[in-house]
Amino acid sequence: MKVLGINFGGRPMERCEIMVKEALFAAKEAGAEVEFVRTVGMNIGHCRGCGVCTDKRDSGSNVHCIFEDDYQKIEEKILDADGVIVASPVFSIGTSGQMKNYIDRFGAAHDLAACEMENKKRIEAGKTGDELLDPRYFKKRYVAYISVGGASTPHWASLGLPTMTEFGTSMYAKVVGQINGYGQGMKVSPLFDDELMAECANLGKKVVESYGKDYEDVKWNGEEGSCPLCHGNVILMNGTDKVNCASCGLPLTMHVEGGKVTYTHDKADEKYSRVTKEGLYDHYWEIEGMKEVAIPKVIANKDWLEEHKAKYKNFDEEIKKVK
Ligand SMILES: Cc1cc2nc3c(=O)[nH]c(=O)nc-3n(C[C@H](O)[C@H](O)[C@H](O)COP(=O)(O)O)c2cc1C
Repeated sequence: MKVLGINFGGRPMERCEIMVKEALFAAKEAGAEVEFVRTVGMNIGHCRGCGVCTDKRDSGSNVHCIFEDDYQKIEEKILDADGVIVASPVFSIGTSGQMKNYIDRFGAAHDLAACEMENKKRIEAGKTGDELLDPRYFKKRYVAYISVGGASTPHWASLGLPTMTEFGTSMYAKVVGQINGYGQGMKVSPLFDDELMAECANLGKKVVESYGKDYEDVKWNGEEGSCPLCHGNVILMNGTDKVNCASCGLPLTMHVEGGKVTYTHDKADEKYSRVTKEGLYDHYWEIEGMKEVAIPKVIANKDWLEEHKAKYKNFDEEIKKVK
């Protein structure tokens, strides 16, 4: 088993790096081949939303971001890996910009439901070998997250783990566990915290022990959290007791009794959670339905749209006319 550890945006040899390397030491001891990568000196540009990666995928070509930088180096390493342990610093409440950039460029293109459907089309058309999508897109992968924040209160790191979760979602990787390592400023270094270092080592070991298992047989390592599926703690409120997990989308019913909040869910609703394969397909079909409505609308209104966009295209001139 190959386990990749990534310090996604943290400084060299500081907290993220020490924690993820501790997990790698344990992963190696548990029998894995390990590799470490530090991204902070790398150039991982942002997604431009051009859609070429998904267009190529859905038209018989390869999934490929056309903007060449260090993104491709990380993408290759992740596709080769069977397990990935990612540590990211909390910057401005969420994950690092580098990690967010990576997720934006990787996520849509590597969506498992879309990749499976495209491969099916190709197989039905008699395509074989290199004409099919890269088999690495379909392998089971086991991931773990370590979020590292400086502030002493968890609300300053509230979107760290929830924004990291998207890393493994679209490729349908199994999350083996996670650590919300906030409060590092006071601690100075995780090396002063034996319990935290032991948690990191445990995560590395558990990623290796999960290898090859069916996802439903993988035991969760980390705080139970609020969401019974992804263990997230950020809830999307809408004014009623019917809420959603903000990280995975699972519909939940909220119960408050004696100051204690609990959540329950219908098993049938798990098909709406992004951490299930059904959830990925639910989104796939939503996008297909969207195309059925949007494409004819664009074709039927091509001239009208061009005409009405002119004001915005000529913004510099048009804005002068506003008194
Ligand atoms: C620009 C910037 C923004 C930060 N924002 C937060 C924050 O919102 N919450 C928090 O807990 N820590 C925040 N921190 C502190 C880092 O998360 C913390 O120093 C962490 O240990 C950095 O990872 P490293 O030690 O591996 O480099 C911020 C640090 C920087 C540089």
